[in-house]
Amino acid sequence: MAPVQVKKICCIGAGYVGGPTCAVIALKCPHIQVTIVDLNKARVDAWNSPDFAVPIYEPGLVDVVKQCRGRNLFFSTDVDKAILEADLIFVSVNTPTKKSGVGAGFAADLNYVESATRRIAAVATSSKIVVEKSTVPCRTAESMRTILEANSRPGTRFDILSNPEFLAEGTAIADLFKPDRVLIGSLQTTEGKEACRALADVYANWVPQERILTVGLWSSELSKLAANAMLAQRISSINALSAICEATGANIDEVSHAVGFDSRIGPKFLRASVGFGGSCFQKDILNLVYLSESLHLPQVAAYWRQVVEMNEYQKSRFSKTVVDTLFNTITGKHIAVLGFAFKADTGDTRESAAISLIRDFLSERAFVTIYDPQVSEEQIWQDLSEACPTTPLETIKKQVTIVHSALEACTQKEAIIIATEWKEFLEIDWQTVYANMSKPAFVFDGRLLIDADKLRKIGFKVKVIGRGERV
Ligand code: UDX
Ligand code: UDX
Repeated sequence: MAPVQVKKICCIGAGYVGGPTCAVIALKCPHIQVTIVDLNKARVDAWNSPDFAVPIYEPGLVDVVKQCRGRNLFFSTDVDKAILEADLIFVSVNTPTKKSGVGAGFAADLNYVESATRRIAAVATSSKIVVEKSTVPCRTAESMRTILEANSRPGTRFDILSNPEFLAEGTAIADLFKPDRVLIGSLQTTEGKEACRALADVYANWVPQERILTVGLWSSELSKLAANAMLAQRISSINALSAICEATGANIDEVSHAVGFDSRIGPKFLRASVGFGGSCFQKDILNLVYLSESLHLPQVAAYWRQVVEMNEYQKSRFSKTVVDTLFNTITGKHIAVLGFAFKADTGDTRESAAISLIRDFLSERAFVTIYDPQVSEEQIWQDLSEACPTTPLETIKKQVTIVHSALEACTQKEAIIIATEWKEFLEIDWQTVYANMSKPAFVFDGRLLIDADKLRKIGFKVKVIGRGERV
């Protein structure tokens, strides 16, 4: 078998993962033609927009697209053409948690992965390396291989690789430029290893060889779930400790700092918060729970499920603190929520803690004013409608206002909630905010962002997650 050299790449799915990843491949590999396709025409149009109004907010992304689009990076809705031309295809479609049927609420919905795989089998006239980029349950590659082999034309062969993406939103470009590791899983056959080498060669254009890890297919699939589950577990652990801090007067920052100094534990990802969000953590843990149950490992399933339960507890605990502190009722009160995205530096709101908090405030019949520097009004209305399925949007709109600055959000409110750690909230003129608030003026910091002592000197009553001080 002649060694494969990748010259043309197709990526199916122009989302948060496929878009930035393949744009960076195009930048770092000018000799490879990269075409990113998506069924969603509006999304593709945005990627192709003359003013580079790309559909994802990600620092540094526009610069990358500016350098390569039209050179060796293309965005298109013509899925079949891109499949036909490519020698390597990334499948980077979304894999949401199933909403109905077997495994509803836990298992990943593999419908999009399957339809993309079937499309590849139907269209391809030459051999391809098919790379699973979407996070998938273990052994999905096996199903993809079965579908491809059952439907391929004579003389066409498909090699399946697993190459999970570890980028975090908000730092995607930096993560892609300098990944901790690139993981490639393949069958341990001669052909499988050859396909693995071909993809490793692509990354070797900018990633040091020792950071490119090659493993078996199933280890690769499980490693992605394991990495996300262990990261989320760290946050749930620190958040569980934050509840103890609040009850005892200890300070979670000091505890994290002390614990993180242990070189075996390390300082990262120990920041207490109002709860983790994002498209991956909850989904991947639920996937792991489902997998464990399918494997008849109920204790393992219960262990991982608790990480999600602790996160739910953290969110509801925070809402309850707000209600308790505001004299046990927020009915008719005016609350500002600063931040709606699931973390700073992204416009993504999937599983954002802010959504749960606002849903709780609405059910207590408070009036909520929201400000986020990146999330669109349309997205906020969509998320709140989904979070309150029995309440008509018109009713939600009577209780919720969306504004375009933090100062506007805070004016004439009884309480301010910091739900996302946007840097611009550090620049808020708290003197002015205080002057324009009803008294007593409360601030609840769910992100350990503000200087609580400074605010207290101004006159605010401040409650910070993981700190036991009385307001
Ligand atoms: C998704 C998953 O959520 C994540 O778990 C996985 O690791 C990678 O893929 P993301 O890129 O954030 O992550 O999803 P999303 O932004 O929704 O993008 C997926 C894109 O695929 C969408 O633009 C969608 O239109 C497109 N798609 C979906 C297709 O082009 N074809 C399909 O059949 C299905
Ligand atoms: C995560 C993984 O980090 C990444 O490797 C994987 O590819 C996708 O899932 P992402 O969800 O984009 O990335 O963001 P991440 O930075 O991991 O944050 C997830 C959530 O945890 C956010 O809501 C964040 O605010 C929260 N978080 C993170 C904390 O509450 N405390 C921390 O110390 C770190």
